[in-house]
Amino acid sequence: MKLPSLLEAKKRTTKKVEYLDYNNNPSLFGLNKKYYLKTYGCQMNEHDSENIKGILESVGFNNTDVMEDADVIILNTCAIRENAHNKVFGLLGRIKHFRESNPNIIVGLMGCMSQEEVVVEEILKNYKWMDFVLGTHNIDDLANVVKKCMDNKKLQIEVYSKEGDIVEGIPVKRDSNITAWVNIMLGCDKFCTYCIVPYARGKQRSRTKESIINEVEELKEKGYKEVTLLGQNVNAYGKDLYDDYDLANLLEDVAKTNIERIRFVTSHPWDFTDDKIISKYKNVMPYIHLPVQSGSDRILKLMGRRYTKEEYITLYNKIRENVPNVSITTDIIVGFPTETEEDFKETLDLVCTCKFDGAFTFIYSPREGTPASIMKEQVDENIKSKRLKELNTLVNKYSNESNKKLLGTIQKCLVLGVSEKDDTKVMGYTENMKLVNIDASKDTIGKIINVEITNAKSFSLDGKLVK
Ligand code: 5AD
Ligand code: SF4
Repeated sequence: MKLPSLLEAKKRTTKKVEYLDYNNNPSLFGLNKKYYLKTYGCQMNEHDSENIKGILESVGFNNTDVMEDADVIILNTCAIRENAHNKVFGLLGRIKHFRESNPNIIVGLMGCMSQEEVVVEEILKNYKWMDFVLGTHNIDDLANVVKKCMDNKKLQIEVYSKEGDIVEGIPVKRDSNITAWVNIMLGCDKFCTYCIVPYARGKQRSRTKESIINEVEELKEKGYKEVTLLGQNVNAYGKDLYDDYDLANLLEDVAKTNIERIRFVTSHPWDFTDDKIISKYKNVMPYIHLPVQSGSDRILKLMGRRYTKEEYITLYNKIRENVPNVSITTDIIVGFPTETEEDFKETLDLVCTCKFDGAFTFIYSPREGTPASIMKEQVDENIKSKRLKELNTLVNKYSNESNKKLLGTIQKCLVLGVSEKDDTKVMGYTENMKLVNIDASKDTIGKIINVEITNAKSFSLDGKLVK
């Protein structure tokens, strides 16, 4: 049994990361059995789930969308805010009931919550009936862990607090055959004071440029049209691995594979130096997610973000000026400890100045083990909710305005599938990442087509195919 420790997880060492190959488990012990996987949280988790599916299918399991039909149930969890926690424990309560009548079902917890001491303590106390908890650093152990559970029904906790090495070649079952996630780095060393990620995901470790480029080349060969390069701080790519190779170099090399579209998320303003803004390659898409978190210098300092409102705006304007048709989105937290009405007004003011294309807004949620969670003067929940509402109204106004600017224009859209709103239509994304519901036939799926924008709303556009 390996239990998590936040104190261990916080440490950063200079130990060199090793790059290992996935150790295949050849036995098909999952044949004629099904798994159900529920994913919470960010793109990183979505992509981990593609690996979880890949591993399980490589040992014979089939996927099911019906939890009650599954032999193995896995929750791939998120720890970033309290409500994600509550949802997971709520679902575990439900699972407990039907597992009582099906005791052979294997139930496992993976993802960021499994790295949290409080969660594992809770499981040891009240969810002892579960079969396994597997941390974020050893997903590659999944097949062995599930096999062990089948052989011996005893709770296994396999959570390493210190990040491991990078394992290449983990099987992957991708959700799309048009657009793909590609991890370029794992972990985060920024330690923003509110954030659990540096504990749950370990220190920053970049994958080698060769393995990233190979992966993109393979995807292109398979017919993928788009890759999204993933990391908590993609602008810091390479810092832990190379002396003179960074995100700009990587983008250049990935662009040269001639895959049609390249995106990258998430950018941290701190590492965003000028040379990375402008890519002369037209397959690097004009979309940047640049979390600001707050417009108040005092709060930014308490958050440990290491830039001021002014510096952020300067960077923001530089990107706008240098990247034609760029769209920029952000993340904002309201109700960080000690946030006053004045601080909040600074955030609203920043939103008015930047006029973001979109923003993901969050109520501050204290995460045990992070410095902000023990700060005095936590903001009252009602005030947080009121601020969120006010912020959202403003954010939506600017999203709507930015979408309206596209009315009547022709946009190149990569069509990803049938529209969720109307199954006679298809849906896709513009180069600058706007969602469009398109009047076009289903054989456009997987293609990049010209679309005339006919209607603009806050969260999406409507359009029709033009030849
Ligand atoms: N409370 C609220 N929001 C948070 N985020 C990260 N940690 C917290 C927290 N404790 C938000 C940040 C980050 C996004 C992924 O989630 O805005 O950019
Ligand atoms: Fe969390 Fe900050 Fe790292 Fe983003 S940069 S993952 S907000 S610690």
